[in-house]
Amino acid sequence: MAGLPLPPNVHVSRHPLVAHKLSLLRDRTTTPKLFRELVRELTWLLGYEAMADLSTQAREVETPLESMTGRQVEPKVGLIPVLRAGLGMVDAMLELMPSAEVWHIGLYRAERTLKPVEYYNKLPDAATVQLCLILDPMLATGGSAAATVDILKAWGAARVKQVSLIAAPEGIATLSAAHPDVDIHVAAVDRALNERGYIVPGLGDAGDRQFGTFAGPSSEPGHGAMDETAEVVRRLQRDLSR
Ligand code: PRP
Ligand code: URA
Repeated sequence: MAGLPLPPNVHVSRHPLVAHKLSLLRDRTTTPKLFRELVRELTWLLGYEAMADLSTQAREVETPLESMTGRQVEPKVGLIPVLRAGLGMVDAMLELMPSAEVWHIGLYRAERTLKPVEYYNKLPDAATVQLCLILDPMLATGGSAAATVDILKAWGAARVKQVSLIAAPEGIATLSAAHPDVDIHVAAVDRALNERGYIVPGLGDAGDRQFGTFAGPSSEPGHGAMDETAEVVRRLQRDLSR
């Protein structure tokens, strides 16, 4: 699976600091406190790259010495953290873009089918921003991301980008097929999904690792697969190799 050419909408950071911090994040001995700090630092670096193409307009500035024409960012930006794990990415993005609006969407992945289930949506009736940045550390099957883009487009979002820390090839294929216009910014594209739909080598469960919630050995990402889940993953992998 790894090594397939990536579609042109996928941007993988090449920054050495991103690679360094991501390796610390993956380490199973990294505590939730350090994990949260790294999520924040990585989001800052990826956010900087994801916003590199924002349009700007002229703005007159009076310096203490004279007037000059500076620039100001043009589009109104909305941050869309996908609960829970996307929450840890919000503060870093707000540091970069303090005027951004934050619109929360709650989705969880059903354990058996790996299908996204929506449980919270705080969007107003019509879109209030020109650019939406979806914040979610993991792009695994791509189901949650594709569903979030569906929701945002139905809301009237004109332009959407996905910012994630790690993606699986299966998730990139799903999201790019459903929404080829969505740019995907990631720190790394990993090898594949395992039979339970976790990214390998990955980092485990991003929500649990941020918030220190460990539900017991049966919820471990490496724990034995259910037939239905394994079949979902096999289907995604067959689609990918076509
Ligand atoms: C994780 C992650 C994504 C989703 C990715 O959330 O934060 O939202 O899984 O998987 P997908 O690409 O296969 O849809 P999870 O469902 O574990 O919810 P949580 O953040 O509340 O733990
Ligand atoms: N969600 C996670 O938190 N990790 C994965 O590897 C896949 C989905």
